[in-house]
Amino acid sequence: MASLEGLVVGKNFWEGKRVFVTGHTGFKGAWLSLWLQQKGAQVFGYSKDIPTNPSLFEQANLGQLIQDERGDINDLDRLRASLAKSQPEIVFHLAAQPLVRLSYEQPLLTFRDNALGTASVLEAVRELDSLRAMVLITTDKVYENLDWVYGYRETDRLGGHDPYSASKAAAEIVIQSYLRSFFGSKSPAMAVARAGNVIGGGDWALDRIVPDAIRAWSQGKPMGLRNPAHTRPWEHVLEPLWGYLILAERLFGEKGKELHGEAFNFGPDHEAERTTEDLVLALAKYWPGASHKVLPRESGSLEKKEARLLRLNCDKAKAILDWHPTLSFDETVEWTGAWYSFARTHSKPEEIRKFSLEQMAAFEARAKGRSAS
Ligand SMILES: NC(=O)c1ccc[n+]([C@@H]2O[C@H](COP(=O)([O-])OP(=O)(O)OC[C@H]3O[C@@H](n4cnc5c(N)ncnc54)[C@H](O)[C@@H]3O)[C@@H](O)[C@H]2O)c1
Repeated sequence: MASLEGLVVGKNFWEGKRVFVTGHTGFKGAWLSLWLQQKGAQVFGYSKDIPTNPSLFEQANLGQLIQDERGDINDLDRLRASLAKSQPEIVFHLAAQPLVRLSYEQPLLTFRDNALGTASVLEAVRELDSLRAMVLITTDKVYENLDWVYGYRETDRLGGHDPYSASKAAAEIVIQSYLRSFFGSKSPAMAVARAGNVIGGGDWALDRIVPDAIRAWSQGKPMGLRNPAHTRPWEHVLEPLWGYLILAERLFGEKGKELHGEAFNFGPDHEAERTTEDLVLALAKYWPGASHKVLPRESGSLEKKEARLLRLNCDKAKAILDWHPTLSFDETVEWTGAWYSFARTHSKPEEIRKFSLEQMAAFEARAKGRSAS
């Protein structure tokens, strides 16, 4: 069902829009900010730090292109002041502590940044007259994993064993409470986006499979793989970001309030469900001399609960937003490998930016073609 609205995400809508992005220095936030900037939006980024070194944010010298502020989302006064200054029409909230492993080491920080931090962002936009639409990013891990073989739907029960998953499920409860209590019919339209197992160039986080592999291979070492048989639904970072853009545009539109309070899953087709070892082997094709070794299981690992596959049912995003997964698993890995190979030999920010923008343009053409068919 190709709806016309699905096709209008593009330069025209975003041109001149004032857009506030929390977490703009992170992996997804940097891609999103670059995409928005390329579409002509005025982007205001608010993040507490640059979470990795290197980072796409610095590699592409994004700080030069957008308004770049360092601040904690839990610092309500500062966040309010930043929003008052930038007067955004659209807010994307991505800032979070996003790592499962770190959440075991720092559970309180994870709950503070993810659950209370989301409350702080919602509190800060309460009096913001300029705001028309807001997309709040959580994760596929918000669902209580019941070991189902079928995909989780947006109405399924929230839960989460590890502190990261629980903190994001808690963020969703916070969001629903704020929406019901403080954001009524005259308020901006707000919705939640859930995705997971995102890969793509420019991710340098610790304890994520692709950056771990690239780090090892750059030093001529085999990559140490902990759970080779874990199966995950892998998707390219541009897939959910494309969904966020469509969702924001819909929320902003005349009928945006119809989507107020709704959640949307953005996951890949079943074809992209592969083991971590399949992913590493596929990625290794793009890195000469790449190899891996399977590490022994850690005894008493806190992460054993992470082993189960959780797949998303994305029928709602397909039907209502006309969003569809665009790249196959092989293409997802190819685009990821191509980005890191390029960054290995090209370090100038304009080169990294150009290469990243080319991937976005190619993706957008494919995604629009898909919606039109
Ligand atoms: N990458 C994935 O595979 C994935 C999967 C599912 C969901 N997500 C979600 O997407 C969002 C972005 O993830 P990412 O992978 O880009 O993470 P990232 O670690 O690369 O970036 C996190 C960003 O949040 C900012 N941040 C963290 N705590 C903050 C605070 N208290 N105040 C202000 N800024 C703060 C950091 O400075 C950084 O800009 C997160 O909400 C994450 O939970 C990511």
